[in-house]
Amino acid sequence: MSKLNGKVAIVTGGGSGIGKAISTLFAKEGATVHILDLNPAGGEETKLSIEAEGGKCEVHTCNVSKQEEVLAAVEKIGRVDVLVNNAGIAHVGNLEGCSVEDLDRVYEVNVKGAYNALFAVVPVMKANGGGAILNLASIASLVGIPDRFAYSMSKGAIYAMNLSIAKDYLKDNIRSNSISPARVHTPFVDGFIAKNYPGKEDEMFEKLSKTQPIGRMAEPEEIAKLALFLCSDDASFITGNDYAIDGGFVKLNN
Ligand SMILES: NC(=O)c1ccc[n+]([C@@H]2O[C@H](COP(=O)([O-])OP(=O)(O)OC[C@H]3O[C@@H](n4cnc5c(N)ncnc54)[C@H](O)[C@@H]3O)[C@@H](O)[C@H]2O)c1
Repeated sequence: MSKLNGKVAIVTGGGSGIGKAISTLFAKEGATVHILDLNPAGGEETKLSIEAEGGKCEVHTCNVSKQEEVLAAVEKIGRVDVLVNNAGIAHVGNLEGCSVEDLDRVYEVNVKGAYNALFAVVPVMKANGGGAILNLASIASLVGIPDRFAYSMSKGAIYAMNLSIAKDYLKDNIRSNSISPARVHTPFVDGFIAKNYPGKEDEMFEKLSKTQPIGRMAEPEEIAKLALFLCSDDASFITGNDYAIDGGFVKLNN
């Protein structure tokens, strides 16, 4: 039986990479997927491929940093059973390479964006009798990663936000978990390699692949499978946890 039959799922940033893979798998498993994405073209591309497979998907052009936009989209959607807080941006640099503008930009999307989605969706889930939330943290939430000052700050916030939501809404039958991927081969990774290491793209791709003891980056579809498990009733006894999905990055890099 399909694992999300009849469920309504919101995936922020579903127009690319991990969010696209999660949206696609959730729709295949019977969910009606609502993508909230800043980039309507990416969202529409995901919607088209979902519909081609007989799935259901709607795209809401929405900047998750803007509370009024997120509240309006969620009001339009109505019932929500599953929320995946996935939209996120990268920044490469240590403390001295992070201007206040860099810090604010990362905070606006990765921290405030997640807060806005939670703020809009949790009351709807409470009124419906429960739900499942998945927050995209990162190995940068768990261990020190070089030159990721702002990004690590934002993903540490996701890790802690997840615990707070899981604790406060346990009584409302809302489960909340986070996942912490190491490098996943998405436009996010290709984009920051191109921007930060021009002319050395292949070398950096190889180097970043090797930082996972397993010897490669993850594919977005591998992340989507864990997301599906955690957002489905198969994970009914799991809340307030974080799962590293990292090719051994956290525990075997020694
Ligand atoms: N790719 C990795 O190696 C990796 C590793 C660990 C964690 N993550 C996390 O996974 C999530 C997805 O990463 P990805 O690699 O798929 O990224 P991606 O860049 O491929 O996709 C991100 C999506 O989010 C959307 N988005 C960006 N800002 C937005 C905003 N303000 N409002 C709405 N939508 C917005 C983009 O349009 C895009 O569709 C991010 O939170 C990222 O931090 C990624």
